[in-house]
Amino acid sequence: MITLERIQPAIEPSELKALLHEAHQCNQRLEAGTGLGADMLGWLELPQQQTSDDIALVNAIAHSLRSRSDTVVLVGIGGSYLGAKAVIEALSPLHRVHGSDIPEVLYAGCNLCPDYHSDLLDALDHRNYSVVVVSKSGSTIEPGLAFRLVKQHLEQQVGRHEAAQRTVVITDPEKGALREWAKAKGYRTLAIPANVGGRFSVLSPVGLLPMAVAGIDIVALMDGAKQAQTDTSVAVAPELNPACLYAAARNGLYRKGKRMELLATFSPKLRSLAEWWRQLFAESEGKDGKGIFPVNSSYTTDLHSIGQYVQQGERSMFETFVDIVQQNSRLVVPSDSRNLDGFNYLVDRSIADINSIAMQGTIQAHHKGGVPVIEMRLPQLSAYTMGYLLYTMERACAISGYMLGVNPFDQPGVEAYKANMQMLLNNGAAV
Ligand code: PA5
Repeated sequence: MITLERIQPAIEPSELKALLHEAHQCNQRLEAGTGLGADMLGWLELPQQQTSDDIALVNAIAHSLRSRSDTVVLVGIGGSYLGAKAVIEALSPLHRVHGSDIPEVLYAGCNLCPDYHSDLLDALDHRNYSVVVVSKSGSTIEPGLAFRLVKQHLEQQVGRHEAAQRTVVITDPEKGALREWAKAKGYRTLAIPANVGGRFSVLSPVGLLPMAVAGIDIVALMDGAKQAQTDTSVAVAPELNPACLYAAARNGLYRKGKRMELLATFSPKLRSLAEWWRQLFAESEGKDGKGIFPVNSSYTTDLHSIGQYVQQGERSMFETFVDIVQQNSRLVVPSDSRNLDGFNYLVDRSIADINSIAMQGTIQAHHKGGVPVIEMRLPQLSAYTMGYLLYTMERACAISGYMLGVNPFDQPGVEAYKANMQMLLNNGAAV
């Protein structure tokens, strides 16, 4: 899955060996629960611990929402929605097919933009919809306010009783305002395990319910995650362990002055996956004055914008490419009798093949230009491979955070803007 040939010459094989040894030790601390943030390690076991009954319950709730609605609004921010969005976009048609019987998932509460939310409510006037609201704390202002807006809209549209039937709350198993709401209103609930943080929750009901609503095979997804749990465990030698390989390479590069990591994908279907990855690594590692700054780009689109910088700008970054080996589309270049555009030399070549050659050309050019490259390969885009990738990334992130010497499971810095905003909203008084 991971190839590290092109991190050379920045990292030589002997250095990589030492880094892998360090990554393996961090993985051992993670598995033994002796590292920082050990009370938040519930995600480590989620794939193998969730039972088929747990998954069947999620699928049953998804089925009941699907039977009532053409649209499902997912209310949440950060780790509460990015994972679901990543998988839904990767595995669903990019352009919605007219007449599809799978509900469309729309997103609310991931910003405070008034236009975004009024446009959403206008669109919902003409939809038959349900709501899934996700907030572990139950006190985050963005989803909290969006839920108020959507709840009121839905109650006006279908009445209080039916609105309650169409609302599912995913929150802390015991505490929080949202759990109180759910009890008072009689909403169905699913729990985010107390020892699983938001950005590590994609393989819990947080990610699984919206995915199931959107028609994703969550059994296959969890099978992929289970395999990744096995393949990234301490029983596997670090040079064969994809999480150790990734964590070792990126920390080695960071120590060589490569402060920025650019995750490059070659499909707009993976744009949200890259955003999920960016949040996972930024919130987990960016603290105590340390951390690789994660950015993402969607090529070839962005080769015509930031490509120039990557090729010839400041040499302070490395790139991680996510390659999907087997593409689903069979689209080929059609022939044209007049060949006015000069592209007839490509007739019958598949677009997938051309995209793949664009990726190879880009990797070679950027590496030659002084950008170390990590390559990640998925055999194809499927629920199974997405589950495998999500778990591997989570595990790599935790190992990488330990190599960096930070607690990957807290996010104290996020509170600073919240405290200021709340004080300003409350006329200078603490809330
Ligand atoms: O990773 C995290 O913990 C955060 O990104 C949270 O998911 C995000 O801040 C939303 O928090 P909550 O689910 O409590 O509303």
